[in-house]
Amino acid sequence: MLYLRPMKEDEFPAYRDCFVADYGEEIASTYRKDKAQALVTASKEIEKDLPDGVETKDNTLLCIDLEERGETKLIGYLWYAINAEEHSAFIYDFFIHPGRRGQGYGKQSIKLLEESLTRQKIGQVKLRVAAGNDRALGLYKEMGFFITGINMARNLRDS
Ligand SMILES: CC(C)(COP(=O)(O)OP(=O)(O)OC[C@H]1O[C@@H](n2cnc3c(N)ncnc32)[C@H](O)[C@@H]1OP(=O)(O)O)[C@@H](O)C(=O)NCCC(=O)NCCS
Repeated sequence: MLYLRPMKEDEFPAYRDCFVADYGEEIASTYRKDKAQALVTASKEIEKDLPDGVETKDNTLLCIDLEERGETKLIGYLWYAINAEEHSAFIYDFFIHPGRRGQGYGKQSIKLLEESLTRQKIGQVKLRVAAGNDRALGLYKEMGFFITGINMARNLRDS
């Protein structure tokens, strides 16, 4: 059985480390940047966007828990923000721990999130997928998401 629940304050540091490692990797590969610099960028972004951790206004951080054989294990995270005027939500981060991927938990998590957002009268969910992230793209497409644009970049100097 899979559950989404609010992240506790003392769980935030582990989440931040996980976000920085994963997002840093993504920045380095998609923007063709130096790995160390990409990690610094990822770290600065989460500090800027979640200045008050789990208490940051308009942002929701969720833990994805799996209950199996009487034990509850944390298998991933979801981070989203609500735009109240638009009645929309933007998913900033979605992560299933590597050993738990490919078993349907990602899809189940998005389904649970959509059910919760529907209860909150949210009518649209948006997100961004990095180039080359075929697994995430496949999952979202299968769940009915459609492509709204393509981000592009060009590096004018090495960094
Ligand atoms: C993206 C992520 C959350 C998916 O979680 P998951 O538990 O592996 O997802 P599921 O097992 O529910 O679904 C995987 C789906 O991905 C798709 N998929 C997997 N590999 C794929 C590939 N190489 N090409 C295209 N689609 C692929 C399929 O649609 C598959 O569904 P299926 O069960 O019908 O085959 C997980 O891979 C992850 O945490 N990745 C790192 C962080 C990340 O990229 N987050 C998304 C940011 S937008």
